[in-house]
Amino acid sequence: QGISILGVPMDLGADRRGVDMGPSAIRYASIQEKLTHLGYEVKDIGNLQVPTPESYEVGQQQLKYLKEIVAVSEELAGSLEKIVESGRFPLVLGGDHSIAIGTIAGVAKKRKRMGLIWFDAHGDLNTAETSPTGNIHGMPLAVSLGLGHPDLVNIAGYAPKVHPENIVVIGARSLDEGERNLIREKGIRVFTMHEIDRMGMGAVMDETIRIVTEGTDSVHLSLDLDGMDPNDAPGVGTPVAGGMTYRESHLAMELLAESGILTSAEFVEVNPILDVENKTAKAAVALIGSVFGEKVL
Ligand code: ARG
Ligand code: MN
Ligand code: MN
Ligand code: MN
Repeated sequence: QGISILGVPMDLGADRRGVDMGPSAIRYASIQEKLTHLGYEVKDIGNLQVPTPESYEVGQQQLKYLKEIVAVSEELAGSLEKIVESGRFPLVLGGDHSIAIGTIAGVAKKRKRMGLIWFDAHGDLNTAETSPTGNIHGMPLAVSLGLGHPDLVNIAGYAPKVHPENIVVIGARSLDEGERNLIREKGIRVFTMHEIDRMGMGAVMDETIRIVTEGTDSVHLSLDLDGMDPNDAPGVGTPVAGGMTYRESHLAMELLAESGILTSAEFVEVNPILDVENKTAKAAVALIGSVFGEKVL
């Protein structure tokens, strides 16, 4: 199958930190070579144009850079629709996690019902009302559920994009009060680090795969590199101690590859500026290899 890579150098979702260099760092870590070597036909369509924060006003404190993020999200959704229509596998490189609003809007538009795997230290389930920061990268999962500012919720002209019964969050260890309430209210399945430690990643993934495939025709993986432990992935915008190890993360990707359920994916929040060895982008490419079927034997 063909894979189309699209970079989104977005750093408006949480003020400038350096995650706009993520797509470049991941390419520098040889993503194209990795996937070509695995036998895929890879087309890198380059980066989407993203405004520079310095050139724009922050705007509302509870929804920073809303206008600019809405514009990028609409364009991103359009690009994703085209990739899905062409029958290729969309692989999006971030950029901060606010890009998931556009990615998910585009891919889900072309599906009847999509499952969603959210690999992350955070829930990204805030709205303007609950956000402690006003940063939109803390909101994309809520937005995809139809909650939040209407301009975000209605990207690509429909809402919601996904249903709570088909969402799984893996690796959570930093949730805000409003996010906890929303998880309970909507009954979203969240595997915190506690569950991962208790059950083991194998069992977590078995249940994840069951949930995201029940009644769906497609599954999107939204992988925030801060889901990994900062020892293994130090170059992220918002690191949180006590995350998934390199090995656990790989196992998760390998089990996804084995299941063959994924229809689109994005890897976000890589920030090479804090990572002289480019360890995080290298980890991202290693995980991408595993999720596309790479095996030792
Ligand atoms: N919960 C915090 C907030 O709303 C942090 C969000 C971090 N999100 C991320 N995609 N790294 O600001
Ligand atoms: Mn629906
Ligand atoms: Mn995160
Ligand atoms: Mn995130």
